Amino acid sequence: MTQRVLVTAGAGGIGLAIARVFAADGAAVHVADVDAKAVDELVRADPRISGSVLDIADAAAVARLAEDVRQKLGGLDVLVNNAGVAGPTAAVADYPEEAWASVIGVNLNGTFNVTKAFIPMLKASKQASIVIMSSVAGRFGYPNRCAYATSKWGLVGFAKTLSMELGPLGITCNTVHPGAVEGPRIQRVLEGRAEASGRSVDEEVELALANQSIKAFVDPRDIAELVRFLAGPHARSISGQSFPIDGDSKSTQ
Ligand SMILES: NC(=O)c1ccc[n+]([C@@H]2O[C@H](COP(=O)([O-])OP(=O)(O)OC[C@H]3O[C@@H](n4cnc5c(N)ncnc54)[C@H](O)[C@@H]3O)[C@@H](O)[C@H]2O)c1
Repeated sequence: MTQRVLVTAGAGGIGLAIARVFAADGAAVHVADVDAKAVDELVRADPRISGSVLDIADAAAVARLAEDVRQKLGGLDVLVNNAGVAGPTAAVADYPEEAWASVIGVNLNGTFNVTKAFIPMLKASKQASIVIMSSVAGRFGYPNRCAYATSKWGLVGFAKTLSMELGPLGITCNTVHPGAVEGPRIQRVLEGRAEASGRSVDEEVELALANQSIKAFVDPRDIAELVRFLAGPHARSISGQSFPIDGDSKSTQ
């Protein structure tokens, strides 16, 4: 069976690693991403991947996405709700209302929009799975990132509810909780911290990993392999669960 897979925010970062792992496995993959240039480059480079350009917070655009996926893939077996934004860094007392609305709008409302739109296709599949990208911030509090932490915990409740509603139909739903992920983004964050603190980048790396048992950032390909397993034939009895992949983090900081 060729798996038909939708990855939101699949044209960059962790989502791109997920799209590539499924495509390498022979799946038909569609990505939904707000970055038109990245989508265009990806679908040109890889004939196994198609794409739509949209913001998942836009419900009307998500309805069009469902049409695109029906046209390109003819249905859906695996929904990877990966899109999520971090929002600004500020204490709750100072957190801007519009930033709260925008983080919740993408991370919670967007994930709801996409999931609701694709449930009919997943019900028609012989082996369907939903995987939702939460975070280490969906396991611990996260000072100065209230909207992000709230949304990532909210997704756990959403996934647990979906697993109960859809489990009787054989559809699984789980959350994945990455810690700090390797790549240019964390590199920029660490360089910024080093500049502000006067410490070296290596010292900032050590500090960033101080709350983890395993002293390394997470490889996005490892997250992709975990998602592929959760959507695969050997995970049919795994649902309503949360999977940290974070070097055994003890906190967000
Ligand atoms: N990077 C990390 O360290 C980390 C850690 C834990 C959890 N996560 C979670 O993993 C997921 C992916 O994170 P990432 O770091 O790969 O993201 P990223 O910031 O690298 O962005 C990946 C892609 O998301 C797209 N995107 C952003 N907003 C979108 C929207 N509203 N609609 C559609 N596409 C959108 C971007 O265009 C980009 O191509 C997010 O849910 C994030 O919260 C990331």
